[in-house]
Amino acid sequence: MTTRVGVIGTGNIGTFHVNTLATRVSGAEVTAVFDVDTQRAKSLADDVGARSCDSAEAVIARDDVDALLLASPGALHPQQVLACLEADKPVLCEKPLGVTTEECLFVLEAEVALGRQLIQLGFMRRYDPGYLQVKAALDGGHIGDPLMLHCVHRNPTVPPSFNADMAITDSVVHEIDTSRWLLGEEITAITVLGGRTSRHASAQDPQLVLFETESGVIVDLESFVNCQYGYDVRCELVGSDGVVNLDNPTVSAVTAQGNRSTTVPADWQTRFGPAYVVELQAWIDGVGGGRYTGASAWDGYATTAVATAGLRARATGDRVEITLVDKPSLYDGACA
Ligand SMILES: NC(=O)c1ccc[n+]([C@@H]2O[C@H](COP(=O)([O-])OP(=O)(O)OC[C@H]3O[C@@H](n4cnc5c(N)ncnc54)[C@H](O)[C@@H]3O)[C@@H](O)[C@H]2O)c1
Repeated sequence: MTTRVGVIGTGNIGTFHVNTLATRVSGAEVTAVFDVDTQRAKSLADDVGARSCDSAEAVIARDDVDALLLASPGALHPQQVLACLEADKPVLCEKPLGVTTEECLFVLEAEVALGRQLIQLGFMRRYDPGYLQVKAALDGGHIGDPLMLHCVHRNPTVPPSFNADMAITDSVVHEIDTSRWLLGEEITAITVLGGRTSRHASAQDPQLVLFETESGVIVDLESFVNCQYGYDVRCELVGSDGVVNLDNPTVSAVTAQGNRSTTVPADWQTRFGPAYVVELQAWIDGVGGGRYTGASAWDGYATTAVATAGLRARATGDRVEITLVDKPSLYDGACA
């Protein structure tokens, strides 16, 4: 059976997803797209044999659209996800679920009222082989009890308009989700430290972010979005009986003249390209039967709650505690 997908937002990631769905995912067909940049939407639609529509609502309502992929700006996600729920259609929503905790809760409550999951969040690291191996090492008991998680998230450059708050809401959110998912528990407090700023940055950069979890695991993250040299995402999970390291995937290494050198991924597409393919394939395979393997609306809500607490922590310099609402039973055991 083919799942016919409508895509809303055909910018960076939307274009990447449309091309992935059209060329690398089986059982999927992109039938309709919309972007306020109608030229871009039309050109992409022509490339993959889809129709370019006049509005997001028109895409959602189409009879030849079974499921939606949202890659519009984050502020539009709550309203567009709610429209998908009203149409009773599954939706893969790029992060974030919403910009504020309140609007995420509103979406969550709408899905709970529906009584079944239609929403998946686009946290693709859950499908990355390296992260899956870190999780398998922990869940398999190979490193004992988790104690600390050290993370690095470096981007080569960002536009001058990308400020220190955006580093938390757009970039650090990935570690918020992966920390919760890897450790299988919620984050209860966040602290954000600035420091000396890089001469390449137009705002505070790097930042050191600390999460504390329910069981007392400490997560430290260096978020550095102007590191210049490449896209470098790594982590080390320290357990009571061992350590598991996640390094950049190495394709080849040159050893000569007493040196061994490997490459660093150039950008997020290079590092996580395969994970997006697996993510989309898993979503397509699951939507028909309502079997979701990825992040849920609960994960979207929890992530935004931590990120918005992080904005307060950054502004005040304080350690900010996070209290979530009770988790609705709809999300019990929903995701690994
Ligand atoms: N999971 C990831 O790793 C990942 C990576 C990149 C982006 N994202 C997320 O995807 C979303 C899009 O990011 P991007 O980098 O592609 O941004 P972008 O600015 O490149 O693309 C956004 C697109 O949305 C369009 N748009 C604006 N208003 C719209 C509307 N009312 N309806 C439909 N489309 C509209 C814009 O014209 C633009 O083409 C963001 O929420 C971002 O956080 C996730």
